[in-house]
Amino acid sequence: MRRKLVAGNWKMNGVRASLGELDAIAAMVAEGVDVAVAVPFTLIAAAAERVPGLGIGAQDVHHADAGAHTGCVSAAQAGDAGARFTIVGHSERRADCNETDTIVRAKAKAARRHGLDVILCVGETLAERDAGQAVSVVTAQLAGSLPEGAAGDWLSVAYEPVWAIGTGRTPTVADVAAMHGAVRAELRRLSGEEAARVRVLYGGSVTADNAAALIGASDVDGALVGGASLTAAKFVPIIAAAAAL
Ligand code: 13P
Repeated sequence: MRRKLVAGNWKMNGVRASLGELDAIAAMVAEGVDVAVAVPFTLIAAAAERVPGLGIGAQDVHHADAGAHTGCVSAAQAGDAGARFTIVGHSERRADCNETDTIVRAKAKAARRHGLDVILCVGETLAERDAGQAVSVVTAQLAGSLPEGAAGDWLSVAYEPVWAIGTGRTPTVADVAAMHGAVRAELRRLSGEEAARVRVLYGGSVTADNAAALIGASDVDGALVGGASLTAAKFVPIIAAAAAL
């Protein structure tokens, strides 16, 4: 019932010369999965023009619509450049920029005001997992940062354990399924029936080798991919794995 979504997050990587990677990625769009790439702000306009069939998005937006916020980019500006969606609440922004759940929720609301779809990220640290708090931390982040009126036609949640990002380590398939089940249950508590339509993505060291197992886990509706989304050679097999499920 929920169509799979494979989204790339280029983080602070990529210049105009990198845009050629998007051509082969865009060719996968017809394969039965939704495909999206969150590029740096500097590449949104050029990427959206180059591959109009691919969902191009931002990695963050400011929670205000406009104003004196030097160096920040609003949802209206990202949309004007050609973004169709934005990531909010990525753990790197929660850590680097002290973004709280309250700020993340405000960013998600700003994105919606300007018609952007939202990928809302949650995830626990290794210390939190080792302390047996992974589920309580993640569900509290979700409760704190989910905007009201959350609906499956514009919202996806990405579960990204902080310790799995960029490390080559992943949770077991059973751990992923358990967490996704907990996220889905919390979504149901917060949003009722609509929870069944919200996609819950897994993120953290997804590669061509583990994509089928991780995306195939129960309650997993796709992936948010960092390093392996930077080249078509690595990203296309992940999309193909999702399409084959
Ligand atoms: P990696 O796939 O590089 O581990 O990054 C995951 C991530 O943070 C995507 O948002």
